[in-house]
Amino acid sequence: MMSSIPAARTPPSTRPQWWRDAVVYQIYPRSFADSNGDGEGDIPGITARLPYLRRLGVDAVWLNPCYVSPMRDGGYDVADYRRIDPRFGTDADFDAFLAGCHDVGIRVIMDIVPNHCSAEHAWFVEAMREAPGTGAWRRFHCVRGSGGSGQQPPNDWQSVFSGPAWSQLPDERGEPSGWWYLHLFDPSQPDLNWECEEVRTEFDDVIRHWFARGVDGLRIDVATGMVKAAGYPDPDGSWPHPHWDQDGVHDIFRRWRAIADEFDDRVLVAEAILGFPDRLARYLRPDELHMAFNFSSLTSPWDAASFADAIRWPLEHNDAIGAPTTWLLENHDIARAVSRYSGAPLRQPLENITILDHVPARELTQAELARGAARARAALLMSLALPGSFYLYAGGELGLPEVLDIPDARRDDPVWHRTGGATVGRDGCRVPLPWTADGSTYGFNSGSVSWLPQPAGWGRWSVEAQEADPDSFLNFTRRAIAARRSLDLVGGIGDLMASGGVLTFTRRSAEAGVLRCTVNMSEQPVDIDDDTIVAMSAPAEQVFGEPVRLLPDACIWTYA
Ligand code: NOJ
Repeated sequence: MMSSIPAARTPPSTRPQWWRDAVVYQIYPRSFADSNGDGEGDIPGITARLPYLRRLGVDAVWLNPCYVSPMRDGGYDVADYRRIDPRFGTDADFDAFLAGCHDVGIRVIMDIVPNHCSAEHAWFVEAMREAPGTGAWRRFHCVRGSGGSGQQPPNDWQSVFSGPAWSQLPDERGEPSGWWYLHLFDPSQPDLNWECEEVRTEFDDVIRHWFARGVDGLRIDVATGMVKAAGYPDPDGSWPHPHWDQDGVHDIFRRWRAIADEFDDRVLVAEAILGFPDRLARYLRPDELHMAFNFSSLTSPWDAASFADAIRWPLEHNDAIGAPTTWLLENHDIARAVSRYSGAPLRQPLENITILDHVPARELTQAELARGAARARAALLMSLALPGSFYLYAGGELGLPEVLDIPDARRDDPVWHRTGGATVGRDGCRVPLPWTADGSTYGFNSGSVSWLPQPAGWGRWSVEAQEADPDSFLNFTRRAIAARRSLDLVGGIGDLMASGGVLTFTRRSAEAGVLRCTVNMSEQPVDIDDDTIVAMSAPAEQVFGEPVRLLPDACIWTYA
């Protein structure tokens, strides 16, 4: 990168409405850093790495769930919403982590899981002691089955993890009762009944608990799913779907927004997987949520027209109501960007398993790995030029590829188990991070085990191996984040275009005029008319007096 970047201004994390353009680093606590050598990452491990996060230049971190949980779905099965699971540390460890983040100007976003709880949550344990359909079952969806004696599920709703979304309850003699409970995910994750006022007041209190404790934001799991259509109708192809995007969810989020507004500068982020940007924008109305992930950028293939759509439509709808757009290229539910963009063939997903269907069908060749890494860098630089916030999933700054060779016996994802191995699941993007080039767990801990096995040669992507190389993925990411901050990009996007496989748009820099971002997603080099290079994802060819040539799979920022 060139040196025509102004010096950094006030970090966004200390500005009002910091979340509007923050870079947020997503940490899967189990896989980040393990301080006690038990094989699972923990909160003291994260606290010890705060200098690393600071140097990366992120404004905030989002932690995947670390509450008390039997971990049937990586902690998205919460047994106690107010307590940290001992495997991740003590409540005091969490408070120390929070204070440590705030001391260095990093905000903290936690995950909240309101659609379902764990089968080990006190409410479900209590319900299981009662006759199906009575008393404590009011907090869940407990419904008579269909067919004469209720031996068929109440309707044909399918679990996101495949198979029916209902499990039959036993009667007092242990025989099938004809009553079923709803679980849109695993049977160990019973859906909560949001028509029950007690469920609503309990979550009001949970939200206040974490905000009062000092947490800066909450990411809302399955934000479109909490309200179910009355009478549990089968889907008929119309929208909203009987259990997705029902209007009633917006009443809940208005209530939550009022709670967030009782505190200073707190934010609510929706995980709302919706194909329609106009419907997504409804979650961002001024009295609802602050941010909602734009999943079309996460799932876009390496294609200029597709990325242009993934950028244009959310911006158009969100800008109209003054809401920011939230970008991401990776998270803990999808194969790593390097592998998705590599050009290698992908596995055939099972029907209904929608967010997980981007896993390469075989190991990548060296050439595919290099292509994927070049594209992942370019996509990162492009994303950092967009208006709104950007979420960087831990390991994305290292260019980690998806791990494909996890032995069956070590796989943990319920998707793998529920599909009998037909869908490989999400473990491959959750493998513990490599910190050192060597060692039995590559610096993840000082012991010899990690909860998911790390592949041979994992140290090649380690922080240590990349630290000394100025061209490494890590150092590139650091520079790109610093450049975004220094330029202080303001306002919306200009001149968005996808033509001949080349994507371009402009932004205005408060410090330095108009910035143009160009991404070459074609197979040919392209000439760039601007002559001042601000940042680039790979070396461009520049001969004195001739236009800069941007190679395929690269992104460049220039002054327009
Ligand atoms: C979305 C989360 O990101 C995913 O990891 C989880 O399995 C489901 N919600 C169910 O909570």
